[in-house]
Amino acid sequence: MRSMVLVLYLVLVQCWSTSWSQSVDPVQDLAHRWSDFGIRLFRSAASHSDQNLLLSPNGAGLSLSSVLERSAGSGREQLERALGLQGLQAADLVSRLRAAMAGGSLGGVAWFVAQGAEPDDAYRKNLEESFGADLRTVDFSSVQDSVDSIQRWVLEQTQDRVQIPSTGLDLGPDPQLVLASGLHIQARFSVPFNASQTLQERFFVDRYHTVMVSMMLTSGRFLLAYDRDLKTGVLRLGLDQGAAMLVLVPDEGVHVNTLEDELSAEKVQIWIQALKKTRLEVQLPRFALEQATPLKLNLKKLGVTQVFADNSLSQVLDSATLSVDETSVPGGVASSFKIPPPRLTVNRPFVFVVYHEATRTLQMIGRVVDPTQK
Ligand SMILES: *[C@@H]1O[C@H](CO)[C@@H](O)[C@H](O)[C@H]1NC(C)=O
Repeated sequence: MRSMVLVLYLVLVQCWSTSWSQSVDPVQDLAHRWSDFGIRLFRSAASHSDQNLLLSPNGAGLSLSSVLERSAGSGREQLERALGLQGLQAADLVSRLRAAMAGGSLGGVAWFVAQGAEPDDAYRKNLEESFGADLRTVDFSSVQDSVDSIQRWVLEQTQDRVQIPSTGLDLGPDPQLVLASGLHIQARFSVPFNASQTLQERFFVDRYHTVMVSMMLTSGRFLLAYDRDLKTGVLRLGLDQGAAMLVLVPDEGVHVNTLEDELSAEKVQIWIQALKKTRLEVQLPRFALEQATPLKLNLKKLGVTQVFADNSLSQVLDSATLSVDETSVPGGVASSFKIPPPRLTVNRPFVFVVYHEATRTLQMIGRVVDPTQK
């Protein structure tokens, strides 16, 4: 009898999961594929840096998808495979994703294209309407002038914050097309941090270095999960505009790289589903990241090589800025408890993601090693 029940249960679960995969919302599906792409990109960038990092996976997903229709053969296949877009009509889905997210939180994208290499009118219309892309013709024969125009656009997109790295952009010989994306987010927490309780406290950058940071404090009912395998705490902090931040804090003594090596879009979904409401005091350092990241090398590592080799694409630049401080949504309140609840203190390197909850779109992913640095 008991085994009958089990069999029935398994059959039901099977049916349920099949019907779920058949009816999966195509916009969420796109968001999931891009999250997967963004996390692979992040891991590639993280593997050769030990500094703070910030990427906007959608920016890169959006800008690369906008060149798909212009590429053919193996160049296109590689792009589709990296983006996980095989068999999808990207332009149509992108318009729907942009509509579902409202408020422009996908960020801007731009094409900087050489004179004579501009797309035709129909393509240009699609770029503007589906991708919301800006199209700028630049004279790449003067590298400085072209980098200056990209820099101006990046400043426009990031509230004058993000500078292109002084090491330059590696545009390769005879540049034809540079893609850029830009996104600025000021975090507005739904449970506010109380500025009069912010204190200067230690943050343990690594075994040998500590820095003093402005450590914010709040208390309330938060969603929390714990990944036993990765020995990592997962805290959800609600933001405005339907977004939330997951703060991923490895236990003391667990290196942040160990967590990064295991990151995937699947893991993020599993964590979100495992979140449980709990009373908590949260200590989180103020930080502000401002980064422009040339992605060519990382894209090559993900198998996108042909478009760079045949010179249909010269560089892909992601620029992003995120400010985390006591800014909160109007009317947000923290709770106070008679008996102080357990405290989660984020005083060592951590990883975070900012995502749009309804579409599960990954807006930003980053790593904070030293909150006093950009
Ligand atoms: C913020 O903290 C101060 C000092 O502890 C306290 O007096 C004040 O009531 C708090 N404000 C809010 C909104 O909780």
